[in-house]
Amino acid sequence: MQRSRPWSIYAEHRKEVNAAIAAATGPDDESIALVGIGRAHDTDLAALNRRFPTVALVDIDRNAVLQGLAGQQQSPSDFLLIAPFDVTGLDDMPLWGDAAGDLWLERVASPPVLPGGPYDGIVSLCLLSQLMHAMAERFGDQHPRYEQFLQAMRAAHLRFLIQAVKPGGWAVLLWDVVASDTLPAMLNGPFTRRTVERMAREAIAARNYFSGLPPPLVRSTCDTDEWLQAQHVTYTIDRPWVWQDDVAHARIVYAMTLRRGKGG
Ligand SMILES: C[S@@+](CC[C@H](N)C(=O)[O-])C[C@H]1O[C@@H](n2cnc3c(N)ncnc32)[C@H](O)[C@@H]1O
Repeated sequence: MQRSRPWSIYAEHRKEVNAAIAAATGPDDESIALVGIGRAHDTDLAALNRRFPTVALVDIDRNAVLQGLAGQQQSPSDFLLIAPFDVTGLDDMPLWGDAAGDLWLERVASPPVLPGGPYDGIVSLCLLSQLMHAMAERFGDQHPRYEQFLQAMRAAHLRFLIQAVKPGGWAVLLWDVVASDTLPAMLNGPFTRRTVERMAREAIAARNYFSGLPPPLVRSTCDTDEWLQAQHVTYTIDRPWVWQDDVAHARIVYAMTLRRGKGG
């Protein structure tokens, strides 16, 4: 089968993504949602389709999802296509005037319900950095309430994921923290995950990271968000790895596995 160049460049990343899903899922799981699936270079759709009776593909960009399916020679009818779908629910929100920040905070606190759920598991495929970036473009990173907006978006995405799964279900949040543009050493691999973790720690200590995305902040959102606490969410964070996303470009990616409490 002829595969695209990104398919081979993404091979190591795809292996880690598959391993994170395999570690999170249980033998009785029947449904999974892949959020930010885009062109699906990071997931083996045929294998997931064999494993789960229901595989939902979620993205704001429907054409990208259709391209991803075609690239893996998969039929859209074998999947639950939820695209276009904006995980923030903010796509139609006007943002003018002094009250825009208040309105935004109010709306972001109640993320949309994902159709077709609740699922046994859900995976967020390096989407959070794009949500953060879009927010910086809306408000500007010099906005006096920028940190508050970052915190609200982190919490909103975690709430969205947990809300989409059954009590006892799981969510794998994959998110990129720093790219080779500002940390070119990550292009000199391969590295062990222990080494990648050290590189990430040093970058974070040097304040070299995507706004709002260092792991201690994501962890603290899980520990303090009232809604997540009410669902008895627990989590673990794995050592990061390098995601080679182009010939001369890479990112460091963390994986957090969250579990919704059985009574949550
Ligand atoms: C980093 S890409 C994921 C890579 C992709 N899985 C692949 O292997 O090619 C993030 C994806 O998130 C999608 N996305 C960005 N903002 C979104 C939103 N608000 N709601 C839903 N999807 C969004 C983008 O369209 C993109 O496909």
